[in-house]
Amino acid sequence: MTNATMTEPKSNRTAATDTGAILVSGAGGEMGHALLAALAHRFKGQREIIGMDVRELSQDRAAHTSASYACDVSDAAAIDAIALKHDVSEVWHLAALLSTRGEKNPELALKVNVMGSANLLKLAADSATRRGSAVKFLFPSTIAVYGVPTLALKRAAGRVTEDQCLEPITMYGVNKRAVEEMGRYYARHYRLLAADRAECTVDFRSIRFPGIISADTVPTGGTSDYGPEMLHSAAQGKAYACFVRPDARIPFMTMPDAVRSLMELADAPREKLSRLVYNVSAFAPSAEEIAAKVREFFPTATMSYAPTIERQRIVDSWPEDCDDSAARRDWNWKPQHDFNRAFAEYLVPKIRARYGC
Ligand SMILES: NC(=O)c1ccc[n+]([C@@H]2O[C@H](COP(=O)([O-])OP(=O)(O)OC[C@H]3O[C@@H](n4cnc5c(N)ncnc54)[C@H](O)[C@@H]3O)[C@@H](O)[C@H]2O)c1
Repeated sequence: MTNATMTEPKSNRTAATDTGAILVSGAGGEMGHALLAALAHRFKGQREIIGMDVRELSQDRAAHTSASYACDVSDAAAIDAIALKHDVSEVWHLAALLSTRGEKNPELALKVNVMGSANLLKLAADSATRRGSAVKFLFPSTIAVYGVPTLALKRAAGRVTEDQCLEPITMYGVNKRAVEEMGRYYARHYRLLAADRAECTVDFRSIRFPGIISADTVPTGGTSDYGPEMLHSAAQGKAYACFVRPDARIPFMTMPDAVRSLMELADAPREKLSRLVYNVSAFAPSAEEIAAKVREFFPTATMSYAPTIERQRIVDSWPEDCDDSAARRDWNWKPQHDFNRAFAEYLVPKIRARYGC
């Protein structure tokens, strides 16, 4: 995804003036938990917030919404029914099957991750036409879109830019890359010949996230889960066997930084954005460095290594870190938490409070 073109949608509504509904898919997941709270804090009472997930939302999450739906994002008829009921002006499309789960059932991943995204992009495009203005579409992509063929090349590549090493080895990575391209199509080419196109398109904005660590939720189904699992296990006094080698290195970020980055990208004036898809980066420790950091706070933690071939192979294909200079330049991205602050100021205090340790 390269530079902006003349055919991109004009973002003629700001967060302050837009009164349309905000639709959040995957609202029952880890990021959904933090994002719903952040959106409700900012917009509750001013805009409809619609939560959607294949599972019924828990009461505390539903409390942040004005309506919630238990529905499968790959079910086009169900998505159409939601679209008819609400005047949607922003879609935050979080629903996905993550990397490890996706490799267990690649066909289901394809259906949910690609067809589900296609349904929501179409909802956004139809809603833009109805409203006569661009609909924002926020899409959390992932470092799984990258694929580095060997460990030697991974080390040589270092911090990859958005346009390097795009040969993913997982169905999840392939799916996310496909959706980035579908987003580019809807933003730049959909209904190109229609006279009203400039106002009636999808304002697609995406971030390729590293592994995300939350103090409030424990992840499932992802291949970066060893980072948060080490910490949550140590805090609960449980032994942990890490599923990758000590030297495995990929980037990570805290959940508050991840949610803030998406909200900042959503707020950025379209004309400042030179790309549709951005890297963001915060810290990139090896598994061994995460274990050492966890032991600083939980010295009796029992941690060992039992790498599994499948998950190690996936982590080895992901870059050691990402070059996020475009995000820093275009919308002033800067993480609040580096490695030390993430543990000292966010993860450990909240996790101690959560587990009473
Ligand atoms: N957590 C991370 O480390 C990480 C890193 C990079 C990108 N992301 C992306 O961020 C987004 C949110 O991730 P998360 O960590 O909250 O994952 P999660 O697995 O906790 O949440 C995903 C949610 O999607 C829902 N879902 C699954 N299939 C669905 C379907 N068919 N219809 C409707 N809902 C469905 C699940 O029930 C779940 O609540 C995902 O798109 C993910 O790819 C996450």
